[in-house]
Amino acid sequence: MKQTLAEVMRMSRICRMIFATCLGSFILVIFYFQIMRRNPFMVDSCCRKGSRSALQELYNPSQMELSGGAVLHQARRDQVVDSCRMYSASSRKRRVLTPGDLKHLVVDEDHELIYCYVPKVACTNWKRVMMVLTGRGKYSDPMDIPSNEAHVPSNLKTLNQYSIAEINHRLKHYLKFLFVREPFERLVSAYRNKFTLKYNSSFHKRFGTRIVRRYRKNATHDALVNGDDVKFKEFAEYLVDPATLRDGPLNEHWQTVYQLCHPCHIHYDLVGKYETLEEDANYVLRLVGVGDSLHFPSYAKSTRTTDAMTAQFFSNISSQQQIQLYQLYKLDFLMFNYSTPSYLRLD
Ligand SMILES: *[C@@H]1O[C@H](CO)[C@@H](O)[C@H](O)[C@H]1NC(C)=O
Ligand SMILES: *[C@@H]1O[C@H](CO)[C@@H](O)[C@H](O)[C@H]1NC(C)=O
Ligand SMILES: *[C@@H]1O[C@H](CO)[C@@H](O)[C@H](O)[C@H]1NC(C)=O
Ligand SMILES: *[C@@H]1O[C@H](CO)[C@@H](O)[C@H](O)[C@H]1NC(C)=O
Repeated sequence: MKQTLAEVMRMSRICRMIFATCLGSFILVIFYFQIMRRNPFMVDSCCRKGSRSALQELYNPSQMELSGGAVLHQARRDQVVDSCRMYSASSRKRRVLTPGDLKHLVVDEDHELIYCYVPKVACTNWKRVMMVLTGRGKYSDPMDIPSNEAHVPSNLKTLNQYSIAEINHRLKHYLKFLFVREPFERLVSAYRNKFTLKYNSSFHKRFGTRIVRRYRKNATHDALVNGDDVKFKEFAEYLVDPATLRDGPLNEHWQTVYQLCHPCHIHYDLVGKYETLEEDANYVLRLVGVGDSLHFPSYAKSTRTTDAMTAQFFSNISSQQQIQLYQLYKLDFLMFNYSTPSYLRLD
């Protein structure tokens, strides 16, 4: 009797030990995957021999000058993750990305980088820099590359051109970044560039004629044929018209960053901002390890769209249109921490 009791107690002690061991290793496994997720290279010694990857430098900086940026960029990543969580909680829409969604992700295999380009956010200069990085010595100064050359699709490789396995490998192991801008400043910049300048009539023909036809009463014959005098008010009407969205995705120059780069599906390691363009861009180049030889072209365009200019354009549209435009770009405002512009009349 006494012996059986001792036996049972021993058994239960063994059980407890086994249970504790199991629990312990389970926690270890979870912990291991957490580390893997945050820093895929800490336990993985693949990749470029001898040198540290940009991803390693971001999450685990070896140089003092890079460690300050790490904190800032963690806060920006958290903001994106939090906004995506809020959005997915309030929305039932779920979708899976297809290779066709990855057309804006430019790949640099040599430096293990992926850049999602957003038009009107220094994207010409970034494409030039990506051409220098992927050019294997073909170019040294980004500004030697003519801007139209930077936009020739075959000059840069995009992620949709790879197999599914190659896509997944690159999404997991490369440093992924994008550059964003205050959404309405970007929108007004697109409007000014595509509708008020005379140098390229392709947007007038493709979009201008349609906008005039749909939203201008008593349009003149010339306006209907040329589509070259679209008012900001008409452009705004076009953007928020449900008929426009039924026609298909918006043109990339005014499409949201959310739809262009899919930041809720693709975990970007770094969010750069147009407002701190040079600082953020040169930070990326230092992470890559080319900061000494390659500098981001400095920007000094006098025609640059400013906040005051944006306010001017918005003062010309109705309060209802302002609200509708804000709804359209709301996720970009939230995800990238841009405050609601003070000039809006949202009452
Ligand atoms: C968001 O913006 C506010 C005010 O501009 C700033 O204080 C805060 O640090 C920003 N947060 C992030 C995550 O960038
Ligand atoms: C005008 O823009 C279109 C579309 O962006 C482009 O395909 C075309 O080459 C441009 N034309 C000129 C003359 O720059
Ligand atoms: C359009 O033209 C007609 C006839 O000329 C005129 O009666 C009407 O007021 C005009 N409408 C607008 C919005 O200008
Ligand atoms: C605002 O609208 C007026 C009248 O339609 C126009 O003359 C002016 O150029 C517009 N301003 C801007 C900044 O669009």
